[in-house]
Amino acid sequence: MGENTHHSLRHDFTNYKTYPLFTQDRATGDEQFNYYGVHPFYTCLESDGQSHGILYLSSNAMEYTLLPEPGLSFKTLGGVLDMFVFVGDSPGHVIELYTSLIGRPILPPFWGLGYQLTRWGFKNTDDLRAVIDRNQKANVPLDVMYMDIDYMDQYHDFSYNRQSFAGLPQLIHETKLNDNLHWTLILDPAIEAVEKDNPVFMDGYNRDVYVKWDKSIAKQDRYNPPNVPSDRDVLYGKVWPRGPAAFPDFFKNVTHEWWIRWVGQLHKDLQFDALWIDMNEPANQNDQIYHCPQNKYDYPAVRTKALYGNGVRELGHKTLCMTTKQGDHNEYLHYDVHSLYGLTETMATQKAIHAATGKRGFAVSRSTYVSSGRYGTHWLGDNFSVWDNMKFSIIGILEFNMFGINFVGPDICGFLSNTTPELCKRWHQLGAFYPFSRNHNCIGNRDQDPASWITAGHPEVTDAMKVAFSLRYKLLPYFYTLFYKGHTRGQTVARPLFHEFPTDNNTHSIDEQFMFGPAVLVSPFLYEGQKQVKAYLPDTNTVWYDLNLNQSKPGYVVIDDNGMIPVHLRGGYILPISSEPNHVNTRTVREGGLNLLVLPDQSGRAVGDFFWDDGDSIDTIEKLEYNYYTFSLENNTLDLTVEKLNYKTKQLIKLIEIVSSSEGQTWTVTLDGKPLPLEVKVHGGVAQIPVNIDLIGKSVGEKWSLKWKPAF
Ligand code: NOJ
Repeated sequence: MGENTHHSLRHDFTNYKTYPLFTQDRATGDEQFNYYGVHPFYTCLESDGQSHGILYLSSNAMEYTLLPEPGLSFKTLGGVLDMFVFVGDSPGHVIELYTSLIGRPILPPFWGLGYQLTRWGFKNTDDLRAVIDRNQKANVPLDVMYMDIDYMDQYHDFSYNRQSFAGLPQLIHETKLNDNLHWTLILDPAIEAVEKDNPVFMDGYNRDVYVKWDKSIAKQDRYNPPNVPSDRDVLYGKVWPRGPAAFPDFFKNVTHEWWIRWVGQLHKDLQFDALWIDMNEPANQNDQIYHCPQNKYDYPAVRTKALYGNGVRELGHKTLCMTTKQGDHNEYLHYDVHSLYGLTETMATQKAIHAATGKRGFAVSRSTYVSSGRYGTHWLGDNFSVWDNMKFSIIGILEFNMFGINFVGPDICGFLSNTTPELCKRWHQLGAFYPFSRNHNCIGNRDQDPASWITAGHPEVTDAMKVAFSLRYKLLPYFYTLFYKGHTRGQTVARPLFHEFPTDNNTHSIDEQFMFGPAVLVSPFLYEGQKQVKAYLPDTNTVWYDLNLNQSKPGYVVIDDNGMIPVHLRGGYILPISSEPNHVNTRTVREGGLNLLVLPDQSGRAVGDFFWDDGDSIDTIEKLEYNYYTFSLENNTLDLTVEKLNYKTKQLIKLIEIVSSSEGQTWTVTLDGKPLPLEVKVHGGVAQIPVNIDLIGKSVGEKWSLKWKPAF
């Protein structure tokens, strides 16, 4: 269930904990509060490894209590309640069923899987350029830069400050061209109601796009400030702009048209690739001064946790009053659709990005609801630069993968309060395995971008980040294929160990380790001063390999810090990985060619697959503009089969690396029956076979077959 901060992934049924569900702007970390999104969906693992999930689909304020029976008490404040039951063969299967109902997650652009950097508090273009330069100079891999609200003129959406951020259009243009950088700009829903000076507001007003007071609320009870147009019943609140601001109603078709127009306009100035939609719970900072008029919606008779949990009396606290109206015909009460604000804005924003850029991009939204994953993605919102928040982020990414939003991650190094070198280093090591990997920082805090640590006297942070992210970039072809299977089959990308090993009881409570797909097990350092990780490698029949490709026995292991995040690879899988050792961005991954890393299981078998497209176009899967290959290993024969072939751009498999226990053995190898000229020797536990297979060289249904046997 979410979005709540849970301190353990497995629910605690012993303490009658009650959690509210009602979208709210609130920094995360504490249990039993409502946060940015609403996902009233839980899964249950049954004793035989089978699983079920239940969705309580209601958009009203809700709460759930965990009872010792074990049981769940669930309350909603009204509206429509649909209940769906998903009966699965395994926990992963339940998520596939769930996303077949609510919609599968988007396929992110390939560049989106690279390292993303942002902060709130850039003063001007030079300041921004200096941060990019120092990270590039330090060879930090970098793919995506963000601009927080600093770039705006008076915090007006669709504007930029032409004094302090003069030169921003050129900087964006140049870095896109020369460095393969991609740019994400922030937008907030609140539009300042300055009649003459803000054409965006006036255009919206004339088209009637804003959330309105219900006509039954007397004019004197509406907390509208003076000097704003009031003949259309618009509600005004206060967010970043100095003056009063109106809130677009994204339930309306006209609002989508208006949003698409202005997003397109912005793109003419600043050629962004993606958009970051913030404050869309929607947040409103008006509450200190104003209270909603007395009525049963803002002050409901049933005191849900969404109210008393926050110590407030009104449901409209820090948001819009519940009696406001939304919809093309004012048919929705905000009371009923409050938690859908972020979802509807994400839908409009995805359309607007596609229209403005002609490319896939993504909308990363703070507020989400059931099915948001179809239209955009999510970062986990404001966290603190403290150790336990790093641990909770693992639970957060696992839960959001189950909610059908797999391209997800928290602010690496923490957002609020100053981070420390050690925390930021550990957070980057873990962050290399977040599906969405972004370092973000609050205004006023010490710098925490990787290169800043060099001048701060902690080059070890920069070095650790580079080591961790070089592994991420190496694994990106495997990661991207997981996102393909998320989009087409509803498989998770980051998943708990019990999703892969449901019948191994030891996995059921594990939330300090996680799987990236079926084959990569991550066991991060999560505690201050920690020098060893105690990790669990599941299932007595599984073969595990460490990053040096040495076999590790299943069971509990203690791993010393050797400068790298502990990662294990699972026997039985074949991973497509980059053949280059170092990367500065995702372009070098795309252009550098592939290796196949073959990790046999106990019986010498393995399987794998590889999805590939141009990484950037819209709907490549729906339009069948992609390639897909499956790999299988059996009896010393590796088959690479072409399943789909519509993206006809040369892509080489340069090397096949086969992990083998026959150290020192020499092999003769044939490819499609023809002997390879080289003899291959198993060295350091691996046989490296140069092949140079061009993956567009065969037709659908055909395969390459690589066979080997000991030379004598
Ligand atoms: C709140 C967001 O959660 C945070 O990430 C952002 O930096 C600030 N708003 C300023 O835009």
